[in-house]
Amino acid sequence: MDRIRIIGGRPLNGTIPISGAKNATLPLMIASLLTKETLILDNVPRLADVALLQRILGNHGVDVTVGGKRAGETADHGQTLHISAAHIVDTTAPYELVTKMRASFWVLAPLVARMGQARVSLPGGCAIGTRPVDFLIMAMERLGAQIEIDAGYVVAKAPKGLKGSEIVFPKVTVGGTHTAIMAASLADGTTVIENAAREPEIVDVADCLNKMGARISGTGTGRIVVEGVAGLNGARHSVLPDRIETGTYAMAVAMAGGDILLQNARPELLQTALDLMQASGVQVTPTNQGIRIARNESELAPIEVTTAPFPAFPTDLQAQLMALMTRARGTSHIVETVFENRFMHVQELVRLGARIHLEGERATIEGVERLKGAPVMATDLRASVSLVIAALAAEGETIVNRVYHLDRGFERLEDKLSRCGAAIERLSG
Ligand code: EPZ
Repeated sequence: MDRIRIIGGRPLNGTIPISGAKNATLPLMIASLLTKETLILDNVPRLADVALLQRILGNHGVDVTVGGKRAGETADHGQTLHISAAHIVDTTAPYELVTKMRASFWVLAPLVARMGQARVSLPGGCAIGTRPVDFLIMAMERLGAQIEIDAGYVVAKAPKGLKGSEIVFPKVTVGGTHTAIMAASLADGTTVIENAAREPEIVDVADCLNKMGARISGTGTGRIVVEGVAGLNGARHSVLPDRIETGTYAMAVAMAGGDILLQNARPELLQTALDLMQASGVQVTPTNQGIRIARNESELAPIEVTTAPFPAFPTDLQAQLMALMTRARGTSHIVETVFENRFMHVQELVRLGARIHLEGERATIEGVERLKGAPVMATDLRASVSLVIAALAAEGETIVNRVYHLDRGFERLEDKLSRCGAAIERLSG
């Protein structure tokens, strides 16, 4: 198993290219199941989760080919995927695959919408919370699917097709909103989705579906309207930049000090996080190439933040912000309201010398003068990267174990950071 070794204390200077968003790429790939024609996706990040979803889709009969490099292209350019679901040969998503990646549960919606049936394993528990799928099942039922749970599988049937309806989510859910939009696109009639997720990745997927011939409006607001169509065609779409990767590297620079251009980053995708960092004393400058983040010798001021659905501060940056606040001058408070168990990084940060006290969903972080390197590990990708951020400012050596979590969501992390002066390397085996 690979590990990452970091020697802390070096500032970061230079340019970090921001990759396409993982959490848009995955539903975009799944949306390919809605059409017989080829969907071409550009700016796709090279991630373990993308490769795994390729395998999962392959199991349904989907062909995915990676486009060749064009002149002048480097590893900093995303890859191009040609995805063809011309022949769906199997509508079952088996337990062994769905448990490896929860988002693969979302194949339920396009399979039922196009094929009238699907058998998809329930994903089970997760390291960051219970993460049930009841709202996704409710959305499919509202659209007329008959659903049974059989031997750990959701068995869904809609032999006569889905019917447009009203779906009101009791709580904002990204996966639920993706599910509702994809299924409603091929339903008969109009669907109104209330309390929809407003995340930029929802907007990106809907933009792509509209290019494929869907009729979706209102994305980016809490009320989405989908007029169903009889069929969808192929299209070409470029994945939007990853706001969580952007925020992660912004916090890495804030932690280590230095001056970095986050190339291709778009400030409006993470304005709340950028405002907060600015309030803490980090320089944030939007440019026409991306976002510049800088911090010199200035101290970090503590913050108060509560995670919540977009446009509030994202849960996917909570662990990284906590790592940063371990070095603030004073006491910070972070309240996690999206996932009830997303604090697995706390005890690992404590191993590096952080002072963090947990009480239910509220973490109190007392800034410390210094962190000290140690061996650490984490149970999900955002928690793992928070340890990398802490290690960049810790004295001496930190070894981050279980690097496969990082590989799921961060493209060439050690390469991007080492090119900017960090002492970071991958230890194989
Ligand atoms: C998406 O997960 C993201 N995953 C997550 O990113 C992200 O943390 C999350 O949205 C919140 O922004 C992808 O896009 C692939 P939800 P999702 O449905 O859709 C509860 C990362 O690190 N809920 O918005 O699964 C749920 O338990 C990952 O990249 C139900 O109760 O999240 C949670 O408390 C991790 N029943 C809340 O809603 C349901 O049926 C929001 O979850 C569905 C959700």
